[in-house]
Amino acid sequence: MKTLLIVYHTHGAKTARMAEAVERGARQALAEAEAEDQVRVLVKRCLEAGAEDLLGADALLLGTPENFGYMSGMMKDFLERAFYPCEGKVEGRPYAVFVGAGQDGSGAVASIERIVTGLRLRKAHPGVIGLRELTPEVLERCEELGATFAAGLALGAL
Ligand SMILES: Cc1cc2nc3c(=O)[nH]c(=O)nc-3n(C[C@H](O)[C@H](O)[C@H](O)COP(=O)(O)O)c2cc1C
Repeated sequence: MKTLLIVYHTHGAKTARMAEAVERGARQALAEAEAEDQVRVLVKRCLEAGAEDLLGADALLLGTPENFGYMSGMMKDFLERAFYPCEGKVEGRPYAVFVGAGQDGSGAVASIERIVTGLRLRKAHPGVIGLRELTPEVLERCEELGATFAAGLALGAL
């Protein structure tokens, strides 16, 4: 059984809705492929997540609002707690990022990428940035992100 870990933070609703869409897409893809017994989808808020979750994950999707041109403080806290226990133990595992932002989002993406590059995680998807009001199109892209990761893990093609 492989594990797809989705870790996210939200102050309000936006990134939470994006995380729900990512999870929905992952579960739908697994149901369609009749592969629910092959991939476990684990969703955690940053506060609940720890190094053991990352160590047990075969793939990782990280979601955060952009705050002050950076990832949220809670996402940074999660990565700070996980970094040293995971260093050298998660190399090559695929990851992608989804960001809920006002008008930019690139700083949140770059700040996460800088840290997970230190863990030698492998970027497997360009990710999703949702600007301003969430649109059905952005939520659809979140679903596709979840589906890509879940199906990729099930098929061993990620
Ligand atoms: C303290 C604070 C700082 C923010 N800084 C940025 C920023 O640097 N760039 C940006 O695009 N949006 C910024 N925003 C807007 C949030 O990223 C945006 O409202 C986001 O969708 C909130 O997601 P959430 O509802 O999941 O908490 C900021 C919002 C807050 C409250």
